[in-house]
Amino acid sequence: MTTAAVPILEADGMSVRYGPQWILRDVSFRVEAGECLGLVGPSGTGKSALLRHLLALEQTAGGHLSLFGRRIDGPDDPVLHLLRRRIGILFQGGALFSALDVLENVALPPRAMHLPTDWANAMARVALSEAGLDPIVTGHKKPAELSGGMATRAALARAIVLGPELLVLDEPTQGLDPPVARAFVTALRELRHRSSSTVLLVTHDLETLRALADRIAVLGEGKLLTIGTPDEVTRYDHPVVHDYFQGWRTLA
Ligand SMILES: Nc1ncnc2c1ncn2[C@@H]1O[C@H](COP(=O)(O)OP(=O)(O)O)[C@@H](O)[C@H]1O
Ligand SMILES: [Mg+2]
Repeated sequence: MTTAAVPILEADGMSVRYGPQWILRDVSFRVEAGECLGLVGPSGTGKSALLRHLLALEQTAGGHLSLFGRRIDGPDDPVLHLLRRRIGILFQGGALFSALDVLENVALPPRAMHLPTDWANAMARVALSEAGLDPIVTGHKKPAELSGGMATRAALARAIVLGPELLVLDEPTQGLDPPVARAFVTALRELRHRSSSTVLLVTHDLETLRALADRIAVLGEGKLLTIGTPDEVTRYDHPVVHDYFQGWRTLA
């Protein structure tokens, strides 16, 4: 990685505001090609809201966003139509469509690109296998028939079905039992190994963070408190950061 490389994502002084309420101010950071950047912070600090802004799903209240080296003017920027195909998103809670079966859910992104159904379904089967699900066993189940771990894998399959250069994961292990969460993290590590994609990972779970993140950004008090390697960030002298990473060193 050289400093001259174009970052996959760059936030420059971005702010998040809903009506009169400022959630985050002046957030600047980059996601470099090939890295896994962990985004953490106490519940309600604005991690999910920031992700929506970083994906240009919502209008920033200030600053600039670039994706793949292209400056984005806002949610209506016509270039987004093409750039979004290069980004896979696993939303908090999975967000599978309950009326569709698993295969149909995973086939949605290629269908949205007007690929033929057979082709989209074939891509969906590959993605399900990559996410650790047997397409024959799970493809025709409805989301409600899946365990938490399987639903998360199905959501991962949908996020990777187009072979994204940037994979965005919002609390992927939330609500999973520790062994299931661990198995999911292992699957993610293997996936990264195979595809060398760039990952932006929001998580509460220190174990997940420790297993995956090359760098960590910490949100708190309405701003980006610090960003750096796990070693740098966990030693950063700030009460919120200190509280957050208590227990980090005792992890295996
Ligand atoms: N669409 C919205 N409209 C108004 N307020 C919102 C909206 N989305 C999030 N918020 C507020 O922004 C804050 C951060 O929420 P969120 O990003 O979900 O936090 P986190 O993901 O860090 O737990 C919360 O106070 C939440 O109520
Ligand atoms: Mg959230």
